[in-house]
Amino acid sequence: MVRSIAIASGKGGVGKSSIAVNVALMLSKLGKRVALFDADFGMANAHIMLDCKVEKSLQDFLTKTANLEEVICEAPSGLKLVPGGSGIIELLNLDHTKRWEIMRSLSPLENELDYLIVDAPAGGSDASLDFAAACDTVVVVLVGEPTSFMDAYSFIKALHLEKKYNNVSIVVNMAATAKDAMASYESFKKIVTKFLSVELNFAGWLPNSNEIKNSILSRKPIALQKNQLNTTAVKNLSSITRFLNEIEPTPSPGINFFEK
Ligand SMILES: Nc1ncnc2c1ncn2[C@@H]1O[C@H](COP(=O)(O)OP(=O)(O)OP(=O)(O)O)[C@@H](O)[C@H]1O
Ligand SMILES: [Mg+2]
Repeated sequence: MVRSIAIASGKGGVGKSSIAVNVALMLSKLGKRVALFDADFGMANAHIMLDCKVEKSLQDFLTKTANLEEVICEAPSGLKLVPGGSGIIELLNLDHTKRWEIMRSLSPLENELDYLIVDAPAGGSDASLDFAAACDTVVVVLVGEPTSFMDAYSFIKALHLEKKYNNVSIVVNMAATAKDAMASYESFKKIVTKFLSVELNFAGWLPNSNEIKNSILSRKPIALQKNQLNTTAVKNLSSITRFLNEIEPTPSPGINFFEK
C-alpha cells in the first residue's frame, strides 16, 4: 500500500514546500520509493528547490500531449517529482473533476512507490481540501503567530466538517527553541480540541534557520548537504521523517490517491 502524506497549512509561506522536499528526500535516503507531488498547481516551486529541469507540465498531461512518465522528473536520491507547473494560468483554476483526473492518473505508480508526499496549496480552498483529504496522513505546518493559528484552525475545521477528517499532525516551523515550539503546539491544540473533535499529534518542529533559507537560494535542499548533518534543522527534519514513517495511516473517508 502506498502511504500518502499531505503537507498543508492555513497561512501561506510557512514552510510547506521546504518541509515536503526535505522529508521526501530523507524518506528516499532511507531506501523508500518516494514521489513528491507538487499540488500547488500553477504556482509550483518544488522543482526549483530541487533544481529539477521541468520539460513537460501537468497541463501537457491534461491536454493529452504528454503521458505521466514524460511529466515526472528524476530528482536526487531516486526521488520522483511530479511537478505542478508554474506560470501556467490554466492550472490555477482546475475544477474538481480535473483534480480527480490528476489524482487517478497517479494510480499506475501504485506498485512503484512506498510514499507519495503531497505539497498542498495554502489555505482552505477546494483544491487544498481535496488534496489533503485524499491522503492518509495530513500534516499542518504552523508558525507561532496568531494569524497562522487562525488560518490553520480554519483549515482543520473545513477538513473536519467537509471531508470528515479527524486526525491531523502538526509541525511547528521557524521556532526559536524546542520549548517555544511545544508552547505553540500546546496552545494551538487547546483551541482545536475545545471546538472540534479532531485528534492532534505533534510531528516535530524546526528552528528559524539560515541554513534552510540558504538551501533554497542555492537550490540544494538541506537534506542533501553532508556538512549540515549536525545542525538542529537537519536533526529535527530527520525526526519529523521518522515520525511520519511510523505513524499509523488515517483511513481517508473520501476519494484517495490510491483507491484501496
Ligand atoms: N525553518 C525555516 N527557517 C528559515 N526560513 C524558512 C524555514 N522554513 C521555510 N523558510 C523560508 O520561508 C519561505 C517560505 O517557505 P516555503 O516556500 O517552503 O513555504 P510554503 O508554505 O511552501 O509557501 P507557499 O504557501 O507560498 O507555498 C522561504 O523563503 C523559505 O526559505
Ligand atoms: Mg509552497
